[in-house]
Amino acid sequence: MPNVKLHLEDNKFHEQEVPTNSNLVVLAGIKQLPHLKYGCGMGKCTRCASKILKGGEALNEPNWKERKMLGDKLDQGIRLTCQLTISEDIELTQEKSVVKIGIQYSKSVNDI
Ligand code: FES
Repeated sequence: MPNVKLHLEDNKFHEQEVPTNSNLVVLAGIKQLPHLKYGCGMGKCTRCASKILKGGEALNEPNWKERKMLGDKLDQGIRLTCQLTISEDIELTQEKSVVKIGIQYSKSVNDI
């Protein structure tokens, strides 16, 4: 089972194992993964945006929703957690100081 380490504000973190091929937003939605921020679960709101610190190479390729909503943020290791399937250990953060999604992405929400 993959290990998920979620960095939180103030140098805290939450760590737990999740079933292979999990979607972390789905787990958060059924209260099996605390602390993860999320919204729509459909790649439209960017509230689940996370910077992948380790394990990004094992993730699925960004889909069209991530490319549309994140643009060049993808090159900085930012992903939409709701669009990821977790099959290997991963370390990520949603800290505001690290994950900055600009207003231009909010505009894209209205386009979908
Ligand atoms: S939860 Fe809305 S984009 Fe991921």
